[in-house]
Amino acid sequence: MTYSRIAGIGSHLPDKVLTNKGMEAIVETSDEWIRERTGITKRHIAADGEYTSDLGVEAARKAVKHSGMALDDVDLIIVATATPDLTFPATATIVQHKLGIKKGFAFDVHAVCSGFLYALATADSYIRTGQAKCALVIGAETFSRILDWTDRTTCVLFGDGAGAMLLTAEEGDPEEFKGVLKTHLQSDGEFCDLLYVDGGPSRTKTVGHLRMQGNQVFRHAVTKISGAMTTLCEQTGVEIADIDWVVPHQANQRILLGVAKKLGISVDQVVSTVADHGNTSAASIPLAFDAAVQDGRIKRGDTVLMEALGGGFTWGAALARY
Ligand code: UT7
Repeated sequence: MTYSRIAGIGSHLPDKVLTNKGMEAIVETSDEWIRERTGITKRHIAADGEYTSDLGVEAARKAVKHSGMALDDVDLIIVATATPDLTFPATATIVQHKLGIKKGFAFDVHAVCSGFLYALATADSYIRTGQAKCALVIGAETFSRILDWTDRTTCVLFGDGAGAMLLTAEEGDPEEFKGVLKTHLQSDGEFCDLLYVDGGPSRTKTVGHLRMQGNQVFRHAVTKISGAMTTLCEQTGVEIADIDWVVPHQANQRILLGVAKKLGISVDQVVSTVADHGNTSAASIPLAFDAAVQDGRIKRGDTVLMEALGGGFTWGAALARY
C-alpha cells in the first residue's frame, strides 16, 4: 500500500518582532491582559515587500533540505493560506516559480486556521492515489496585512510566518509505516459570522479586515477540536494513551490546555509556540511541529496528533507517525 511519509519539515519567521509592550503603543491593551487571556508574549510581522510566498519559499527550502531530497523531486505544491500574495494566481504557483520548479502542479487551499490540515489531507490523497510522489505542504500567512490595527480584540492575537512539510510516497505495511495515518476534516458554514474578513473581490472589491467574536469562537473551539480528535482515534484504533505529541493550531494557550484536559492528555505532551508566534493561522501547526523536531522533542517513530479550528468554521485533526 502507498502512504505519505513525512520526509522533512521546515519553518520561517519574519525578522521583525512585535512584543506585547510594543502592542501597548498601538492599542489600549496590556502585556498582562494578552498573556493572561492568550499566552502570547510576542509575534513576528512581515516587512514591507515581504510576501506570504516569500515566507513559504523559505520554509519550503528548509523542509526540502531537512528531507535530503532535491527541489527537482517535488511534483506537487499545496499552499494553505487566507492571505495570498494576490487574489490570483495561487500563491502556490508563485512559490513554485520562486523555487525554480518546472514540473508537477501547484494550487492553494483556503480553510483559514485549519488550512494546513486540509492541505495535508489533500496532498495525502494525491500521494495515496498515485497522482503525486513528492509533495510540499505549506502553511504561510501574513495576517498582519488583514488586521484592523485599531481593534484591540483582534490585532493583538495574530502574527506572520510559514511552515512546510515534505511528503514522499512510500510503499509499506500499514502497521509498520511512518507517515500520515489518517485525517478527519469537518466544516459548518452556519458559524461564518463569528470569524471572517469583511472584504473580498466579489462582495466589496476590497481586501477587508479580520472580524471575530472571540469569546463565541472560544466556546466552540474546545468542543469541536476534542470531538475531531476523538473521532480520529476511534477510526484508527489509536488510543489517546498511544499519542506521544499533540501539535495544535496555536490560537490560545487556554484552548490548547482545555483540549488536553478534556481528552486526558498531559500538558507536557502538547507542543505550544503560541507565546512566541501568536496565532499564525494556517502556518501555526507546521511552525510548532518544526520547533519540536528541531529541539528534539518529536523523534522519528513518534505518534503525533495535529488539530485545528478556524473561520468557516472549519476544523479537524490529523494523525501521523513521524
Ligand atoms: O484561530 C482561529 C480561532 N480563533 C480562536 O480560537 C480564538 C478564540 N478566542 C479567544 O482566544 C479569546 O476569546 C480571546 C483571546 C479572543 C478573548 O478572550 P476572552 O477571555 O474571551 O475575552 P472577551 O472577548 O470576553 O473580553 C473580555 C474583556 C472585554 O472587556 P469588558 O467587556 O469585559 O469590559 C474586552 O473588551 O476584555 C476586553 N479586551 C481587551 N482588554 C485589553 C478585549 N481585547 C482586549 C485587549 N486588551 N487586547
